[in-house]
Amino acid sequence: MFRAASLLMIFLLALSIAASPVEIRDSPITLSVARRLNTSGGTINLLQHDQSRATALKTVSRDTLSRRSGSTVATNDAVYYTAAVGIGSPATTYNLIVDTGSSFTWVSATSYVKTSTSVNTGQPVSVPGYGSGTEYTDTVTLGNLTIIRQPIGVISTSTDSVIGVLGIGPLDLTEGILGESSTMTIPTVTDSLYNQDMISQIVVSVSFEPTTSESDINGELTFGGTDATKYTGAIAYTPLTTTEPASYYWGITESITYGTTTILTETAGIVDTGTTLILIASNAYDEYQSATGATLDETTGLLRISSTQYSALVNLNFNIGSNTFALTPNGQIWPRALNTYIGGSSDYIYLIVNNLGTPSGEGLDFINGYTFLERFYSVFDTTNSQVGFATTAYTNATTN
Ligand SMILES: *[C@@H]1O[C@H](CO)[C@@H](O)[C@H](O)[C@H]1NC(C)=O
Ligand SMILES: *[C@@H]1O[C@H](CO)[C@@H](O)[C@H](O)[C@H]1NC(C)=O
Ligand SMILES: *[C@@H]1O[C@H](CO)[C@@H](O)[C@H](O)[C@H]1NC(C)=O
Repeated sequence: MFRAASLLMIFLLALSIAASPVEIRDSPITLSVARRLNTSGGTINLLQHDQSRATALKTVSRDTLSRRSGSTVATNDAVYYTAAVGIGSPATTYNLIVDTGSSFTWVSATSYVKTSTSVNTGQPVSVPGYGSGTEYTDTVTLGNLTIIRQPIGVISTSTDSVIGVLGIGPLDLTEGILGESSTMTIPTVTDSLYNQDMISQIVVSVSFEPTTSESDINGELTFGGTDATKYTGAIAYTPLTTTEPASYYWGITESITYGTTTILTETAGIVDTGTTLILIASNAYDEYQSATGATLDETTGLLRISSTQYSALVNLNFNIGSNTFALTPNGQIWPRALNTYIGGSSDYIYLIVNNLGTPSGEGLDFINGYTFLERFYSVFDTTNSQVGFATTAYTNATTN
């Protein structure tokens, strides 16, 4: 009896451990993430970048996943986040764009420095939105962990300024990289850390902090678990959605309310570091505009409000499972110190919620982008098929 009870206990304990990612303290597997506004092309058109990414993300389907080399799922090249990743031995450090919306890690052919660990597999690869090239395997260093024989792409890009991407999306998104009709997947760096026994669960957590400067180290990636110093309260998990096409990415379901007004009824969408704004289906966007009284600013494409309207703004609630994540009024506006970078006027107040460009009911009805993630800690958990969110010391920040 006692024996059975303690066995049951061990079983339950194992279950509860399996159900939530490992908490990592002073993790050696954390990478700093730097945010940069790319002003090299003149004024940034945030909305245009985000909407074209959204269109590309939405056009992926199971059928086209392995044939989508022609589509353009490029990261937003106006605002991007990079992590320093070492490749080769001795390692060359590359500032790769961190992307949860793609899963293949690659560097541009012009910047790749080959060493004795660089092995050309001879496999042609193509990266949607960037270009094509050859697959290599090489040593990849993340923080002080070293992955051996990680498949990477060495890509001839049309834009030399993009050094490469660290893809931390789900494994299935790598289908098609090895050829238009290939259903073969390529292990992501997170998979490799797991396969090579450096982490015990296929999990990556993201911490971003709001910033008002043009270039700033304001984020952290934690592989294999979560970092308790970066969030407050408990992490609430929600299952990955099975609704396509949201299910190809980090897809979840949520509803959105502005105060008590329904903006978007419960539906599937995605969480994405590669999108800057929070994009919602066009009907939800109309509701939000009328609830806030905002006017469309033709110059930036963003919604604009007066200071009186700003004072009257209420929380925009993201209802995920039984939890509500409240985006404060300050969290709903673009940092005013950065208005001029997006072609705006320093006297105006712009909202970061905008139009996905398509109505709801299409299987990907919202994108909780970077401006959401800088207010809420996020956990992307393949092992338990879930995404987690928690509040942070910055959830209620008024820095914008
Ligand atoms: C990795 O680096 C961190 C900080 O630089 C250090 O505290 C930790 O002990 C290192 N871990 C390993 C396994 O070397
Ligand atoms: C910066 O913007 C320019 C012009 O739009 C673009 O060509 C370039 O690829 C961007 N750089 C990055 C790193 O995204
Ligand atoms: C944010 O402010 C609200 C309202 O004042 C409060 O209930 C909530 O606990 C705060 N959240 C955090 C993470 O500090």
